[in-house]
Amino acid sequence: MRAERVGDNDAIRRVNEAAFGRIDEAGIVDALRAAGALPISLVAELDGAIVGHLAMSPITIDGIDDGSLGLAPMAVLPSRQRRGVGGALVRAGLAICRARRIPLVVVLGHAAYYPRFGFVPAAPAGLRWIGGHDASFFATGALRRGVVRYRPEIGDG
Ligand SMILES: CC(C)(COP(=O)(O)OP(=O)(O)OC[C@H]1O[C@@H](n2cnc3c(N)ncnc32)[C@H](O)[C@@H]1OP(=O)(O)O)[C@@H](O)C(=O)NCCC(=O)NCCS
Repeated sequence: MRAERVGDNDAIRRVNEAAFGRIDEAGIVDALRAAGALPISLVAELDGAIVGHLAMSPITIDGIDDGSLGLAPMAVLPSRQRRGVGGALVRAGLAICRARRIPLVVVLGHAAYYPRFGFVPAAPAGLRWIGGHDASFFATGALRRGVVRYRPEIGDG
């Protein structure tokens, strides 16, 4: 697991396109990078090739950017899925967040997956994504009431 470097962009694109089966998420990563809104961008390598990627970008809570981040997108090459690469990326990303004292990390994702990394449902604390989907919206860190918006490159539904 390491931070992305200059020269990784094409491989990161390919991983996202293959994992999602479309170009949208790869475009989001490129747009976040171009906007300087990719404070955490990690790649996973196997046998010297990039096979996974995780991005985190700033969010606002009730319009305020306090340094909290949203985890999205994350992608692992289909041929390399279900062998722990995604989990290793999430754990590495959250370790960086703890080291940087990031207050809160949110994710829109599957209830079967993200709780194992310490994410809990956000809605019971009154923390909601403006796009809804309470049942899929998780957070870890200092949960509090508020309405979350992602970066415009990601969009809010
Ligand atoms: C989600 C993703 C990054 C996980 O990567 P991975 O390397 O396969 O993850 P891991 O090997 O660490 O973990 C595998 C676990 O994730 C679970 N999982 C993966 N995708 C899932 C999904 N869509 N729904 C529910 N569980 C899922 C698997 O059930 C598996 O759990 P298990 O080991 O208990 O059976 C990968 O499947 C992927 O790239 N998917 C397509 C893109 C995507 O949907 N990204 C997430 C949204 S941003």
